[in-house]
Amino acid sequence: MSDNVFNKIDVMMAEIQSYTIDSAEQLEAFRIQYLGSKNAIKPVFGEIRNVPNEQKKEFGQKVNDLKQAAEGRFNTISTLLKKQSQNNAAADIDLTAPAYCGFGGARHPIATTMGKIIDIFERIGFVVAEEREIEDDWHNFTAMNTPEDHPARDMQDTFYLKDSANRLLRTHTSSVQSRMMTSNKPPIRIIAPGRVYRNETISARSHCQFHQVEGLYIDEKVSFADMKQTLLYFTREMYGADKEIRLRPSYFPFTEPSAEMDVYWGLESDTDYKITKGTGYLEILGCGMVDPNVLSSCGIDPEKYSGFAFGMGIERQAMLLYNIGDIRLLFENDIRFLKQFESVV
Ligand code: PHE
Repeated sequence: MSDNVFNKIDVMMAEIQSYTIDSAEQLEAFRIQYLGSKNAIKPVFGEIRNVPNEQKKEFGQKVNDLKQAAEGRFNTISTLLKKQSQNNAAADIDLTAPAYCGFGGARHPIATTMGKIIDIFERIGFVVAEEREIEDDWHNFTAMNTPEDHPARDMQDTFYLKDSANRLLRTHTSSVQSRMMTSNKPPIRIIAPGRVYRNETISARSHCQFHQVEGLYIDEKVSFADMKQTLLYFTREMYGADKEIRLRPSYFPFTEPSAEMDVYWGLESDTDYKITKGTGYLEILGCGMVDPNVLSSCGIDPEKYSGFAFGMGIERQAMLLYNIGDIRLLFENDIRFLKQFESVV
């Protein structure tokens, strides 16, 4: 009888030692079988009452060995499996993959477009001049040959500040012209980028705030031909060496003669038709020879000096360059829109 019990222990010991444990599931099955609350070793302990007294000690020892063997295997294999799964996790990491650094920000298309324009004029000697956005009536209108009762004031709906100084949000960067001419002596050759405001209904094509770049060149004997050549140079640098321009007679109070400059865009696609309204031409800027009245208002002798000026909107050019269909996108700061310019420098 006791031989039988001792035999049972040996068989169980062999089972414990040869139990296949290759996975966490098998390990758990092993644990339930030999170490769980209803484990297979427990009933063997109970057999002690069938063992003759002189063999009880040896029996107890053997059953303990059984328990320790089970615990030993469980612990060794559980550490092994843990290590293995850590190694596997490490193997899943691609060490050669480029690092993802998150969204590091992007240049706004307005800033990029403005930067391009400034670069082009700086290369031929124009210097950047920045001025205030809250302007007085004199610098924005009166000095620019647009006195109070002048009908041309209606061309630009103005935001006035509620103060006694009759200040306003500048309606164009031409206000920088009067600032520069009153504080500098010719030759003056400046480029003035900045934000301007007009009380206009916001739509897909127009906004109450937008950006302009103004150009002004005053010296002795500056001619209309100088202006035309400067603007042709700008167009070809900005839009391609094969581009052609045309100057259409126009009217601005501060220039005489005045013109609007169109770039020939072509009529090759449906989009060309749409953006040029079927004419093939895109209007890019207003320009002209600085009116002698403006020169005298700002203390420059119109008999000695002449000059040209031009002013262009940035939004429409940014929309052209980056294929943006709605001007409002440029002011909403929607991260999904801005993210698309991550690689634009
Ligand atoms: N200030 C004019 C505008 O905002 C543009 C312009 C600037 C025209 C300089 C002629 C000369 O429409």
